[in-house]
Amino acid sequence: MQNNWRQILKVRSNADFSIEPMQESDLPEIMDMVQSVPQHSPDVVDYIQHQMDLGKSVKAVDSTGKILGFYLLGQNSVLNTLYKGMDVKENIQPYVGKKGLEGVALFVLPEYRGSGSGRALKNYAQNLPYDYMWGYHLKDFNNLQDWLKRRRLIAEDPNVYITLRDKKKT
Ligand SMILES: CC(C)(COP(=O)(O)OP(=O)(O)OC[C@H]1O[C@@H](n2cnc3c(N)ncnc32)[C@H](O)[C@@H]1OP(=O)(O)O)[C@@H](O)C(=O)NCCC(=O)NCCS
Repeated sequence: MQNNWRQILKVRSNADFSIEPMQESDLPEIMDMVQSVPQHSPDVVDYIQHQMDLGKSVKAVDSTGKILGFYLLGQNSVLNTLYKGMDVKENIQPYVGKKGLEGVALFVLPEYRGSGSGRALKNYAQNLPYDYMWGYHLKDFNNLQDWLKRRRLIAEDPNVYITLRDKKKT
């Protein structure tokens, strides 16, 4: 009886995953997951490999070590992604010389979505020691409202949004 309750509590509290550093040996599996996302074009892998830093990236794993999801992260300036002609919503000069963390790709396997691992991956990244965090979102994802819960829209073009969150001073 007690064990049953423990199991129920575990499912309810969604504590059956942990956030761990990404390993080089995880990359083939991770890239397969990246390519399973219908909105991603084949060249997304090149972008991700260029922008991500393995040492900063993390995965959500279950108790057997199975990868449930990941957040690929890279130390990149948002300034490098803005281009002339892009609809930039604010003065971005305050970000010159600041340390930016790019959320390069966030993913959870469909069967594990909605169980807290995506949120845990985002919370992990948000607590890293950077001046600000930002990301690129294809409009085809239709998920701007999800990102605006934590960030603000700073730029867009016909295909993408760029959102940013300042690190809160502690
Ligand atoms: C985005 C994704 C990782 C969220 O994982 P999840 O397990 O469903 O998320 P959780 O239930 O743990 O957490 C819910 C949080 O994720 C956000 N979220 C849910 N679906 C989302 C989506 N499609 N895109 C972005 N954020 C999403 C929620 O708004 C919530 O945000 P909050 O923590 O700020 O309140 C998952 O839906 C996914 O892998 N989608 C396919 C890939 C994708 O869309 N990646 C983002 C590309 S910009």
